[in-house]
Amino acid sequence: MMSFKIIAIDGPTGSGKSTIARLLAKEKGFLYVDTGAMFRCLGYAWKKQGLCQNDEVLRKLGLDTKIVFEPDGRVYCNGEEVTELIRGEDISLLASQISKFPLIRQNMKAQQRQLVREAEKIGNYHGAVLEGRDIGTIVFPDASLKFFLDGNNKIRAQRRFEQLAAKGESVSYEEILNALETRDAQDRNREIAPLLPAKDAIHVNSTNLTIPEVLSFLISEIEQVR
Ligand code: DC
Repeated sequence: MMSFKIIAIDGPTGSGKSTIARLLAKEKGFLYVDTGAMFRCLGYAWKKQGLCQNDEVLRKLGLDTKIVFEPDGRVYCNGEEVTELIRGEDISLLASQISKFPLIRQNMKAQQRQLVREAEKIGNYHGAVLEGRDIGTIVFPDASLKFFLDGNNKIRAQRRFEQLAAKGESVSYEEILNALETRDAQDRNREIAPLLPAKDAIHVNSTNLTIPEVLSFLISEIEQVR
């Protein structure tokens, strides 16, 4: 029997992680876990609660926020469909802000491991691909394979700009570049689980690569893992 593979894809915003991870999961029959969406749900729920930073509030938020991923890609937060609502720039920043609290991170790590454990137990998947910031370093340090996707800031901002424009959000390219640099700095410099390549991660710079090129590189690497 083939072993259940766990693939970690970490990297900053706009590096192509989500698109690649989603396609990879589909191609290989893996569970796809968008861990950023989990932090986005928390940012969304936190905003509703008035952005209080009290330990008890954060603990409860981590424990009580019910996040559900449907197989068709829809995301629910406490029973409300938030698939699109969590994709705006305001929630991006709140997700990054809330992700620096240890109580929140502990809880997310436990939930992410649990999702994978359940998928392995159910037996419908050949593996799991998780994308985020700390998957290879903290959540699954023993992952079968780890990738770190990066790219030039301006190109990443351009991709994000195009994504948002396609959804009709009116934000300028300069605002996006600014927000991206702020968020990256926040994610890279936080004390706990900062955005960092794992020592054994394979680095991929997606600046001059197309999505199919990155995808086929990742697949060829994964196929070499026993
Ligand atoms: O991947 P994303 O842009 O949807 O993530 C939103 C924010 O969530 C990101 O700025 C930092 C946080 N995050 C995190 O701290 N750890 C993860 N594994 C994933 C996301």
